[in-house]
Amino acid sequence: MIFESHAHYDDKAFDFDREKVLALCKEQGIETIVNVSASLQSIKSTLALAENYDFIYAAVGIHPDEVGELNEETFAWMRKQCEHPKAVAVGEIGLDYYWDKEGHETQKYWFCKQLDMAKELARPVIIHSREAAADTLEVLKEAQMPKGRVVLHCFSYTIEMAQEYLNMGYYIGIGGVVTFKNAKKLKEVVKMVPLERILLETDCPYLAPEPNRGKRNSSLNLPYVVEAIAQLKGIDPEEVIDTTNNNARRFYLKEGRQG
Ligand code: NI
Repeated sequence: MIFESHAHYDDKAFDFDREKVLALCKEQGIETIVNVSASLQSIKSTLALAENYDFIYAAVGIHPDEVGELNEETFAWMRKQCEHPKAVAVGEIGLDYYWDKEGHETQKYWFCKQLDMAKELARPVIIHSREAAADTLEVLKEAQMPKGRVVLHCFSYTIEMAQEYLNMGYYIGIGGVVTFKNAKKLKEVVKMVPLERILLETDCPYLAPEPNRGKRNSSLNLPYVVEAIAQLKGIDPEEVIDTTNNNARRFYLKEGRQG
């Protein structure tokens, strides 16, 4: 059974058929979903989804593009939401110098504050990092996040950078991009990273894998990602599914860490 470690089912792209898609996911072997928030509004809608579906869990955090929403008051509110029984992680948080919607210092300030919050609450962290490789590494090194409690979601950097994060004990999130013909760098990363350190994700509704590239993505496309990883590593797709499921349970869920 597949563990979907990063989805945005509260996105408006699912407003017309959310229930249908989620019912199909359950039917087609998607065992668990972590829905990831990005803004104050999406923290509310993510927690609502987690309350309505037993197989959906929530990540609570503010994306670097949205940190303009944060101040002492909204931060305190967010921190409170992390105590929800189905809030299993802090995310997605990080740095985005591609869209560059907020100043770098502002992004770094709230990134650090949210990392501290995750440490205090003993929650794992989902990192969003785009065109900010050096600064992301620097912030994470300084924050001294515990081993095994950080995932670099939708990893898009070099094999050397992946090795740095593996040395720090982090996980690497792999999604639809690995199926793209031009994703040579990522394919090399996937070959190198031990399967025990990979989390399977879609980032849906974005980043649909081949052969559905460009269309709305959903967890139903995860078998294409599984197939691509299995081929690159020369192993059975079942092994990819089982190992990444165990990885994600260990990362997100308490019961995954016992035994
Ligand atoms: Ni995302």
